Amino acid sequence: MDLQHETERRRTFAIISHPDAGKTTITEKLLLFGGAIQIAGAVKARRAGKQTSSDFLEVEQQRGISVSTAVMSFEHMGCAVNLLDTPGHEDFSEDTYRVLTAVDSALMVLDNAKGVEARTRALMDVCRLRDTPVVTFANKLDREGLDPFELMQDVEQTLNIACAPMTWPIGMGQYFQGIYDIPHKQVVFYEPTEKGRRNERVVIESLDDPALIGYIGSSAAQKLREDLELIDTMDPFDLEAFRAGLQTPVFFGSAINNFGVKELLDSFIQIAPPPQSRHTETRDVQPLEDKFTGFVFKIQANLDRAHHDRMAFVRITSGHYQRKMKLFHVRTGKEMAINNATTFMAKDRVVTEDAWPGDIIGLHNHGGIQVGDTFTEGEVLKFTGIPAFAPELFRRARLLDPLKAKALVKGLEQLSEEGAAQLFRPLEGSDYILGAMGSLQFDVIASRLENEYGVRALFEEVSLGAARWISGPEEEVDRFVKENRSRMFHDIHDQLTYIVQSEWALRYASEQYPKIVFHKTMEI
Ligand code: G4P
Repeated sequence: MDLQHETERRRTFAIISHPDAGKTTITEKLLLFGGAIQIAGAVKARRAGKQTSSDFLEVEQQRGISVSTAVMSFEHMGCAVNLLDTPGHEDFSEDTYRVLTAVDSALMVLDNAKGVEARTRALMDVCRLRDTPVVTFANKLDREGLDPFELMQDVEQTLNIACAPMTWPIGMGQYFQGIYDIPHKQVVFYEPTEKGRRNERVVIESLDDPALIGYIGSSAAQKLREDLELIDTMDPFDLEAFRAGLQTPVFFGSAINNFGVKELLDSFIQIAPPPQSRHTETRDVQPLEDKFTGFVFKIQANLDRAHHDRMAFVRITSGHYQRKMKLFHVRTGKEMAINNATTFMAKDRVVTEDAWPGDIIGLHNHGGIQVGDTFTEGEVLKFTGIPAFAPELFRRARLLDPLKAKALVKGLEQLSEEGAAQLFRPLEGSDYILGAMGSLQFDVIASRLENEYGVRALFEEVSLGAARWISGPEEEVDRFVKENRSRMFHDIHDQLTYIVQSEWALRYASEQYPKIVFHKTMEI
């Protein structure tokens, strides 16, 4: 009974957006509403989108003293909300993709002046892979931007998903006065206070209430009525279409002024799905199954400098976690007694006593746990759909202190298991190659090698530009490897990887060896 009750009240989601749309600001407002933090400004240090690499490293190193963890949990309206953090900087997009495998819904934040931007589009593609339901928040209505109908058209055309407005802005820019709450048929607007800031909430129950004109003026009231007539002709919000990823409910507001955020959160709690089933290689796992299952979607080091630890983040997919239970680590076949799993509140880390499907628990990791690993109570299962992407940038690690060769390899292997970058061992020779999606990853690796492993290394440019994992009939693969030995590598999962100078060379190889399959993404 507890399992059902606790599962149904969980909401696990992440925010997707283009840098600068307002993700950090809205995260902070949600945490304030959820009572998880008390003061505005606490989340500032998390911002990574606009930072230079040294700022980013600095932020990484400050983790633990700022409000900065992979998951922020809070209670709202009887629901336990788990908001999963995603890195702001696009060089870490691979990390973001993996976080999205651990959520049941996503909140897409758009800058109302800019509409759908490149990064949002890429992240939506990832949500699509699993039909993740997406709620949209159009932010910055306090600035001039697109007409709200135009914004919805942009979403519909660019992202190929139907829109259903849930709130509607009254005015925009300096004339932004509030919103109309469509399902509740309420006007919610914000009155100027003595200090000149408009943050009082006044609710008017009906559009016919004569007080409405007194508050917003007759032309805004007239415009609102006309807009609503048009909205009446559109398809209304449909829970099933939303849950199937076919329709997105759209909310308007201004995060920084706290306009429309409460309406967003209240509705979100009601419509966002509870924990969903997950695919494994052998069967689907249902959240209400008695036995515990979960998978690792992220490993993070130095959450707290004082602890010097690495944390493996496990998304619980079924069953009940209880303190001191033994978990079966499927890949290694070992049983582990978990005495001190960690639950993350906004600022605090506490020892987990109980956790349920949809929750994220942190396991202390002294090496040995990899991204993609499955934990169960004994069943051999392997969750699918956790992606690795073929890297696009490559560097050779060059040791500055020749006596530290062993430490370098260990550091690179462990950082690669975390997914911080990808390490490739050549079949011939001894030059380890590091692959990444964004160059900032190399800076992070270099800094972490020095801080955590005491190894100073340089990452030299190499003339490599494209990688693919290969598969095919055994004898074809053998022939391919024999004929291309100097370009063959093993990744940390011992998968054969072909790394060449350019996409062009890759195309040439695929023409020469039609029976070989070249994979751009890999399940890990
Ligand atoms: P991000 O995490 O998605 O990158 O965005 P973030 O919240 O950091 O917001 C980006 C900028 O947009 C910030 O301004 C922030 O204050 C501003 N912003 C967020 N919400 C709103 C809004 O509703 N209206 C307006 N007008 N601006 C908003 P900044 O100048 O870069 O930083 P700051 O100096 O204000 O902190």
